[in-house]
Amino acid sequence: MTGMSYALRAEGLKKSFGATQAVRHVDLEVPAGTVLGLLGPNGAGKTTVVRMFSTLVRPDAGRIEVYGFDVVRQSQQVRTLIGLTGQYATVDGNISGRENLYLIGRLLNLSASGARRRADELLERFDLVKAARRPVHTYSGGMRRRVDLAASMIGNPRVLFLDEPTTGLDPRSRNNLWNEVRLLVAQGTSVLLTTQYMEEAEMLADAIAVIDSGQIVATGTPTELRTAVGGQVLQVRPADPADLAAVAAVLSAIGSGAPMTLADDGLVVLPIGGESELTQAIGALAAAGLQLAGIDTHLPSLDEVFLSLTSDVPDRTTT
Ligand SMILES: Nc1ncnc2c1ncn2[C@@H]1O[C@H](COP(=O)(O)OP(=O)(O)OP(=O)(O)O)[C@@H](O)[C@H]1O
Ligand SMILES: [Mg+2]
Repeated sequence: MTGMSYALRAEGLKKSFGATQAVRHVDLEVPAGTVLGLLGPNGAGKTTVVRMFSTLVRPDAGRIEVYGFDVVRQSQQVRTLIGLTGQYATVDGNISGRENLYLIGRLLNLSASGARRRADELLERFDLVKAARRPVHTYSGGMRRRVDLAASMIGNPRVLFLDEPTTGLDPRSRNNLWNEVRLLVAQGTSVLLTTQYMEEAEMLADAIAVIDSGQIVATGTPTELRTAVGGQVLQVRPADPADLAAVAAVLSAIGSGAPMTLADDGLVVLPIGGESELTQAIGALAAAGLQLAGIDTHLPSLDEVFLSLTSDVPDRTTT
């Protein structure tokens, strides 16, 4: 391979379980040292993609590579590069959190003292110091999840798969996890993160791929996705609320839809295609002699983007 180095690549990936086409056709590229957020509703195929990349499920068709190693034919090499946190906890409930982490470190060829040090470091980072010596089966759901996440990070993997990592975590634990992921990425780890939350993808991901019914339906940075879907929203606040109707009248000649007056908020909002319409609006409002208290534009929220791209929503908007 030449040029950019990719941590993960898949081309024409397919997987069926009986009659269910879990993954119909997936192409993905994750440049080394970046985070890709794989975003999709329940049953979209996210876990199946992760399981194929992590050598746990064999694809029916397609090419799939981790750092240039073929996941099917070179699975041994691939396993040394990856850390995996499954959607469901996988640590041993009968032994303590600290022992779990220590043993995994040893399995990954850390020295006894190295494994102990790494275990203690992660217990600290994931707020598990107090519970460290208790058997994991006595932990709460969120604590268990945190041990599982810590376990996937023990070996400072080159590639980390996080399958809905923050499901069931409280806001503080979620923040700790995000920080931990950022730290690993700063050290060169590449991440494939699945999530149902736009917010999480936006916090962590360099790029987002939206998957629906086993197919990638959109890819891009969060900003690109917002722009692709909905254009922007212009919001105008006249200095004098008595001017709302006059503002709306001026704006009705501009933009890609009819202006809407929100009398209670003292605002007129208008969908627009881009900046030229913003400039036009400012000019027209000034020419009409209308005093403004505020004017701004914003992109549609990422949740709006997600809903408009995926099919599970009854009132899906097409683009
Ligand atoms: N081992 C399996 N046997 C049969 N069907 C499966 C299996 N694994 C996944 N599926 C089916 O494949 C589809 C995709 O499942 P997958 O778990 O990849 O979705 P997901 O995007 O991870 O969903 P969620 O957000 O609920 O975790 C679903 O219809 C699921 O029922
Ligand atoms: Mg899943």
